[in-house]
Amino acid sequence: MIYIKNKSEIEKMRKAGAFAAKLLNYLAPFVKAGVSTLELNDIAEDYTKRHGHRSAPLGYKGFPKSICSSINQVVCHGIPKKEDILKDGDIINLDVSPVVDGYIGDTSRTFFVGTPAPEIRQLVEDTERAMWIGIEQVKPGARVDEIGNAIDDFLSPKGYGIVRDLMGHGVGRNFHEEPQIPHFRMGRKLAKIEAGMIFTVEPMVNQGTWEVNFDKLDKWTVRTKDGKWSAQFEHTVLVTEKGYEILTKED
Ligand code: MF3
Ligand code: CO
Ligand code: CO
Repeated sequence: MIYIKNKSEIEKMRKAGAFAAKLLNYLAPFVKAGVSTLELNDIAEDYTKRHGHRSAPLGYKGFPKSICSSINQVVCHGIPKKEDILKDGDIINLDVSPVVDGYIGDTSRTFFVGTPAPEIRQLVEDTERAMWIGIEQVKPGARVDEIGNAIDDFLSPKGYGIVRDLMGHGVGRNFHEEPQIPHFRMGRKLAKIEAGMIFTVEPMVNQGTWEVNFDKLDKWTVRTKDGKWSAQFEHTVLVTEKGYEILTKED
């Protein structure tokens, strides 16, 4: 079932989205060579708690930490660790999902650590552009598969692999609600988009194959099958009468 949010739920989602964006902005200057992903996790958790909120990932289906931190060939759901120390040339996606007054804001960005290789900079820039191209399809009367079609038409000619195993999702009181939002061409019609829906657009884009592996031991970390690098950006988006509103805007 796809929830259509009412006025008061939308207001709460605006607050949750705004806090998620503020949290990611707060983390940004700490992303530097020498910092561990556990330190970034702890900075995020402290900031969230200090504002009276909590982190949706912590304990979600057994996830052990407060944010996801995904370096280089890690596609998503990387678990923060003291051994994972950022170095010059890395890229890292930080995905934050705070719970504010019962509602969840979900947003992520891929950051450069120092100076990236030119093709890595291109990957990250193309991934962010792909997210925006997907978001630009959002309006009442369109269908969610059209988001995937537009992203696929932009990325596939450039030779990238678009992750198929994980998709965008409805979000609200629950971390993951219907509908699923594909970032690739599925070749069939999916749910109609209606005003009052809230969902994420969060393409995961690989330099090489779209195929991924799930870590056998920790059951969370998703890596590219070929070891090439992967980038991701994510916003939480409200469908309005005219189109969309970004709930996790950075400004
Ligand atoms: N924030 C992720 C998403 O965009 C979900 C992470 S689930 C977790 O859907 F348990 F790994 F945190
Ligand atoms: Co999400
Ligand atoms: Co997320």
